[in-house]
Amino acid sequence: MNTILYKQQLSQDVFLMRLHAPLIAEERQAGQFIILQTDDDYGERIPLTIADADTIEGSITIIFQVVGKTTKHLATFNVGDKLPALLGPLGKPTHIENFGRAVCVCGGIGVAPMHPIAQALKNAGNHVTVIIGARTEELIILQKEMSAIADELIICTDDGTAGIKALVTAPLKELCEQELKPDIVIAIGPPVMMKFCAETTRPYKVFTQVSLNTIMVDGTGMCGGCRVNVGKEVKFVCVDGPEFDGHLVDFDNMIARLNAYKEIERTHYKCFVEKAFNKNVKEVQL
Ligand code: FAD
Ligand code: FES
Ligand code: MG
Repeated sequence: MNTILYKQQLSQDVFLMRLHAPLIAEERQAGQFIILQTDDDYGERIPLTIADADTIEGSITIIFQVVGKTTKHLATFNVGDKLPALLGPLGKPTHIENFGRAVCVCGGIGVAPMHPIAQALKNAGNHVTVIIGARTEELIILQKEMSAIADELIICTDDGTAGIKALVTAPLKELCEQELKPDIVIAIGPPVMMKFCAETTRPYKVFTQVSLNTIMVDGTGMCGGCRVNVGKEVKFVCVDGPEFDGHLVDFDNMIARLNAYKEIERTHYKCFVEKAFNKNVKEVQL
């Protein structure tokens, strides 16, 4: 178990892996995630969404972006290597029903966690519009897979190299202004993007679900690392989420908590790259 069965580089910093995890593959539902460790002893535990599963092969698929030490380490694993620890499926599955018109807004790596959700919404009979946003064309992933699911696919890039030159909130606003406005919007991506998606839909009173990517440690509701304020309540993303009503989430508090360890993360990344690749890292852009 936990052996890497397949590895593919999807773009400069994004990797897809299929891991042997037959029990997780049997149980998982759209919206759930795993926690893995790349080091045996003192390695940190990081959460990654289960992007897909194959019960015949007994595998789950993860798609991750290298952003720091642990994801950089994970990217060095190859087919046949074994991960020291893998836990899941965790979190509550996405609530799927026939809402009517569903709009899935994905920013950057958010396309990976959105893929099984868009598929489940389509299977439930929804009219599915997928909006994918990326800085530039090279960073768009899973476009072919999403176009096979979506009734309508809108691509946005910051530099206009693919689709429309706009932020994802521009087509989202247009959809909200149509006579047949969305019955549900699901947004997954960087916290700032999810915040602005929620602000875009708020005046139109379109229910907007966001999938929160807080820092996690144990993933079982005990450490408090993933605490967020939702409305007047305190929630733990690992057990109460990861999905919440975006109009109620205190994004500013969440973003501040996510940035709390930036300096330490930079130092650990720099030390890891210097040790593992024998490289002198002067500038670390995370
Ligand atoms: P670091 O340099 O340590 O951190 C970079 C940034 O990542 C931090 O500033 C912080 O914002 C975040 N982060 C750091 N440590 C953690 C942690 N233990 N838990 C959560 N976030 C952390 N990323 C993907 O690429 N693909 C996914 O499918 C995916 N799914 C996720 C699902 C959930 C439920 C959550 C909460 C996060 C998900 N993430 C996903 C984000 C991923 O966990 C972080 O990018 C990863 O932990 C960064 O680790 P690092 O050591 O490489 O980077
Ligand atoms: Fe520890 Fe959620 S990760 S409480
Ligand atoms: Mg880290």
